[in-house]
Amino acid sequence: MRILGIESSCDETAAAVVEDGRQMLSNMVASQIEAHKIYGGVVPEIASRMHAEAISAVTEEALRQAQLSMAEIDAVAVTFAPGLVGALLVGLNFAKGLAFAGQKPLIPVHHLRGHVAANYLTNEELAPPFLSLIVSGGHTHIVEVLDYTTFRAVGRTRDDAAGEALDKTARMLGLPYPGGPHLDALGRGGEAGAFRFPRPKVAGHPYDFSFSGLKTAALNKRQEANGRERDFAASFQFAVADYLCQNTLRAAEALDYRVIVLAGGVSANSVLRAEMQRRCAERGLELYLPELRYCGDNAAMIAAQGYYEHLAGHVAGLALNAVPSLPIDAG
Ligand code: KG4
Ligand code: ZN
Repeated sequence: MRILGIESSCDETAAAVVEDGRQMLSNMVASQIEAHKIYGGVVPEIASRMHAEAISAVTEEALRQAQLSMAEIDAVAVTFAPGLVGALLVGLNFAKGLAFAGQKPLIPVHHLRGHVAANYLTNEELAPPFLSLIVSGGHTHIVEVLDYTTFRAVGRTRDDAAGEALDKTARMLGLPYPGGPHLDALGRGGEAGAFRFPRPKVAGHPYDFSFSGLKTAALNKRQEANGRERDFAASFQFAVADYLCQNTLRAAEALDYRVIVLAGGVSANSVLRAEMQRRCAERGLELYLPELRYCGDNAAMIAAQGYYEHLAGHVAGLALNAVPSLPIDAG
């Protein structure tokens, strides 16, 4: 089954074609980063307008690269939640139009489920159940993936997302938006033990996170970091990675998971990848990481998850609406 995926939840306009949830035939992403950079973050109105400008061309290019016409596509999968509502609506309405015109099923996909499914594109043998750490710009969750469309969140952040903490710390150091990848580059070769940051515990919730304390600690130590930015970047990233790994592996042990899957934009972080790899190897756990090109927002991951949503009978009518905030385990 060939699925056209559409993604427009934040600042990437993306379209892709994936066969049977696993084989990527094309994957187009038009990034808006340059337009938002001067504001230091995503401006929702600009995001919506740029999605509207780009979506037709991006979709045409995805079909062209897959060497397929719309008639050869079996279904349209689209991100309907969560995200910026105006941005989501652009992709959603476009997908509805395509589905209606071609009389094809319209498959609603939760963005974070898509991030998890990014792993199916590279790791043919990967199948649920497994435990996933989902870390992006707006979300930090530890989720049991019971089967392809049954999720149970067991841990979450109480305040900032991991990506947000990384981006804000990067900004403090004067790095451009989005800061995560720049902080990653700056910290290479730095001393990870040079600065200490807390790993806050959330009482009664052993798998939950609180990143605002880390961010405040970074702000307080900012002066000490002058001239030692590399060590500061390395130390902060190590603290974030260590905290993420600790809670994930604690949950894996308590809930008896032997397979761990990383997902979301922050899973591109080199410190997090290395730390998780090292600790999983020590414990004899199997670890899956998304390929770097599938870590950030893209539509191949939406088409991949769309395949499994369709298998489970999750098809929407044209009344489908965008939902800015929705738990991964809803519905
Ligand atoms: O999943 P994503 O592309 O968009 C959301 O759904 O939010 O995640 C974006 C986040 C941003 O915070 C960005 O700075 C972070 O992922 N990110 C990284 C790296 N690459 C992207 N953070 C740390 N290191 C990286 N290499
Ligand atoms: Zn994302």
